[in-house]
Amino acid sequence: MQTLTSNWEVSALVRQWQRDGERIGFVPTMGNLHEGHLRLVKAAQQNTDRVVVSIYVNPMQFAPHEDLTNYPRTLDKDLQKLTALNVELVFTPSDEVMYPEGNTGCSYVEVPAQLTEGLEGAYRQHHFRGVATVVTKLFNIVAPDVAVFGEKDFQQLLVIQQMVKDFNLPIEIMGEPTIREGDGLALSSRNQYLSKQERVIAPKLYEVLSETRERILMQNMDLTDLEQAAIMQLEQQGFTPDYVAIREVATLAEPDNPTDLLVILAAARLGQTRLIDNLRV
Ligand code: PAJ
Repeated sequence: MQTLTSNWEVSALVRQWQRDGERIGFVPTMGNLHEGHLRLVKAAQQNTDRVVVSIYVNPMQFAPHEDLTNYPRTLDKDLQKLTALNVELVFTPSDEVMYPEGNTGCSYVEVPAQLTEGLEGAYRQHHFRGVATVVTKLFNIVAPDVAVFGEKDFQQLLVIQQMVKDFNLPIEIMGEPTIREGDGLALSSRNQYLSKQERVIAPKLYEVLSETRERILMQNMDLTDLEQAAIMQLEQQGFTPDYVAIREVATLAEPDNPTDLLVILAAARLGQTRLIDNLRV
């Protein structure tokens, strides 16, 4: 496995592979890799000849009050995990490589407000601008044939799909299901911020989503009432919910047709930790 920090070296190596007729898979991450990330890598391997993983904690997608400085950085362990999976190339750029002019005075990518201003976008100002910008830069550097993202960050996956479509990027986007602990808690690098007591409560988020799904399927309750009921349940468990929203799966718009395919999305704080999760109906 090669680990490169230079964008030019990554581009040159991947071009070389592509000239040899190989299909390239790409998994962008912020590191602190867990089984959720590794499943994306395995999915990429199943669909391509060589896989590139990037590890970069992107300052542009963190709001000033968020956990950029505390975000867990575990590069040595991450590299061990990727070596064990026989990943060909890991790109670990510095801030200087990604944002030579700084991340405030540079060009950025803005996906329409419809998709980026609600839900996560309402609580994390400019978050999706930061995500879309860094992913565009990474796509241009790596130029993969396929890129794999997790459904754990459902809104992010839709933002990337829209961006790829709008800019005619010749990259196939694959979405992979959320990997969970045995008790239902979605794997996340942020789970390690949880205290022992909070860790016991955390799986209730998934339980509430599952219960809400059951209630939707029974078709005898108003969706807004169901959202409110879920918020109350979370509060009773000790969460401070940001939102529980039942939305149309393809656009995240509020559903207006009983036959719409739905997804329930939620974000809730437990102490200092902000958890997000979602469940398709
Ligand atoms: P990060 O949070 O490290 O996640 C990297 C990828 O792993 C994302 O596609 C995310 O959806 C996926 N992922 C995280 N937890 C998962 C789980 N439990 N099951 C399945 N997939 C999971 O998302 C980012 O980084 C960044 O925003 C990034 C796209 C790298 C841009 O900076």
